[in-house]
Amino acid sequence: MLLGILGSGSGSNMQAILDAIDAGTLDARIALVLSDNPQAFILERARRRGIDTGIIDCRGFRTKFPEEAQQETAERLLAAGVDLVCLAGFLRLVKRPLLDAFPQRILNIHPALLPAFPGLEAWKQALDAGVPETGATVHFVDEGMDTGPVILQQRVPVLPGDTAESLHARIQIAEHRLYPEAIARVAAGPAHGGA
Ligand code: GAR
Repeated sequence: MLLGILGSGSGSNMQAILDAIDAGTLDARIALVLSDNPQAFILERARRRGIDTGIIDCRGFRTKFPEEAQQETAERLLAAGVDLVCLAGFLRLVKRPLLDAFPQRILNIHPALLPAFPGLEAWKQALDAGVPETGATVHFVDEGMDTGPVILQQRVPVLPGDTAESLHARIQIAEHRLYPEAIARVAAGPAHGGA
């Protein structure tokens, strides 16, 4: 299973995927890592491992993922032979034509128990809402924002005195266990809850 990773930030989830591959619990290889942010540490992590990297040129748009950029991204992922695309802290909304190039083959990790708290900084949303627990979700990406079919979820408690940072850190521990397991399920096929 050849993976393509799209990320905008630190890349700790990509690191967790690499760790699972190293540990032999995930039978996969990361072929290509692309980022819309040239400064993102996810690119540095990938380079250190000798993984091919690239920048997604979003034509100066701050949050939009323009159609030409989606087309270019799809072409690069296909040229690298990628089977499954994993969004790992990628902060732009994926739409056609990228979705069409990888039908039911794009996963996302989200720091909440979807459908609760879609969108950005979901851990802050949970804290502001005063809920006793939140969590992490891995799901297939569809045309909506964090709306595709759920593959796996894990609950995470909100503790007294939590700050946005402490809660996000606890959610990330759950994410790092959840994402490799969800990828393994998808790789194993529909009988195991995958595509
Ligand atoms: C993760 O917590 C991920 O769930 C979140 O960004 C963080 C990236 O961390 N994604 C979203 O909020 C997407 N809506 P990482 O770069 O260390 O993997």
